[in-house]
Amino acid sequence: MVQATPFFLVLFLALGAHGLSVKKCSLTGTWVNDLGSNMTIVTVNSKTGVFAGSYHTAVSATSNTIKESPLQGAMQKSPNQKGQPTFGFTVNWSFSDSITVFTGQCFVDDDGKEVLKTMWLLRSRVEDIKNDWKATRVGVNVFSRLQ
Ligand code: BTN
Repeated sequence: MVQATPFFLVLFLALGAHGLSVKKCSLTGTWVNDLGSNMTIVTVNSKTGVFAGSYHTAVSATSNTIKESPLQGAMQKSPNQKGQPTFGFTVNWSFSDSITVFTGQCFVDDDGKEVLKTMWLLRSRVEDIKNDWKATRVGVNVFSRLQ
């Protein structure tokens, strides 16, 4: 018993530390990405994972005045979801004819900070089918939490 006590103490502390490190990601809140764009996700439906919010891009492929634009998305809510969820959302730009889809995953990094690693496709409107080949841009964005 005398030898068993330190063993269980170490085991208890190790399990406790592990439990603390498995911090879950939440999409709700305000985020900033590596381009300086801001995004706010207002509500994430706890049953369906469907969410909505707004996006203020720092850059544009157009010369139009940038305006805050609505976004709609969904977070994966399958029963075997173990935290760090995958998600996707669409930004319907209110100041251009374009639309962007993002897909990504919410991670907790080694410092315990939430980070959204995403890829996106930006579809611009072109006048003619002959220009379809140049209508889609692709990229990555990394978001960190502002609030
Ligand atoms: C447009 O130029 O027609 C609309 C704005 C597009 C902004 C893009 S979407 C992908 C990338 N990430 C951002 O935060 N902004 C740019």
